[in-house]
Amino acid sequence: MADFQVTTREGETHRLEGVDGWRLMELLRDYKMGVEGICGGQTDCASCHVYVDPGWASRLPAPGDEEEAKLDELPGWEETSRLSCQIIWGEALDGLALTVAPNWV
Ligand code: FES
Repeated sequence: MADFQVTTREGETHRLEGVDGWRLMELLRDYKMGVEGICGGQTDCASCHVYVDPGWASRLPAPGDEEEAKLDELPGWEETSRLSCQIIWGEALDGLALTVAPNWV
């Protein structure tokens, strides 16, 4: 069973099961990890902003142009920032670790 580790804004760590084909944002939202996904994955809201563990950043598909543009606007941007709505869960992400970014929106 593929799973991933989340550190919340409150500093709590959880290991959660992934669901093939779901957006990471949807998993974080439905597991109530503090991610809202306000725009439904349209790269408009950044309420799904996460920091991917540095060891994972280069293993994920590169962000597209729309995601890059939104990330560039974020006050809390870091090298490993991603919009979790743009990451589709699959077995290859087993062991992924991330931290939910501060809520800037
Ligand atoms: Fe709005 Fe990801 S859910 S940018």
